[in-house]
Amino acid sequence: MLTKEQLEKRYKRIYQQLRELLHETDNTISRMATAASLLHHKMPYFFWTGFYILNKGELIVGPYQGPLACQVLEKKKGVCWAGIIRQETQIVPNVQKFPGHIACDSRSNSEIVVPLLDKNKQAWAVLDVDSRNLNAFSDIDKEWLEKIVNLLVG
Ligand code: SME
Repeated sequence: MLTKEQLEKRYKRIYQQLRELLHETDNTISRMATAASLLHHKMPYFFWTGFYILNKGELIVGPYQGPLACQVLEKKKGVCWAGIIRQETQIVPNVQKFPGHIACDSRSNSEIVVPLLDKNKQAWAVLDVDSRNLNAFSDIDKEWLEKIVNLLVG
């Protein structure tokens, strides 16, 4: 388990590395894939790390790392859809207690979802991270994952 200081330090390094890597292309899918891989392999408690993208009114899976996930999420249900509808980060300490949670893998116990907003502040995708630990995500994850998402869309 990382201390608060270790976690901050790790996020800072990931952020700096990603900022450099993202100079290489402005292609969104490629940038998402780079971010998913970097986060997934540098964060010990990330079990599934990836993106869901709005496509013709559905949320479909984008670049990700981790076990096989649902390709299409049932409409207006679950944590990813809550991130899109509420247009703000969702932290779910225990997914069993989130009404309508979509369990793509029963080993996931907690989750954070960060929306990606367009120029008109409309959500068009989410970054979704699942952990096998209960209560894995804090305001530190929220702060840094929001910064990382801003790098991707910036
Ligand atoms: N649990 C999510 C679905 C996606 S998986 O976690 C990869 C949800 O409730 O929207």
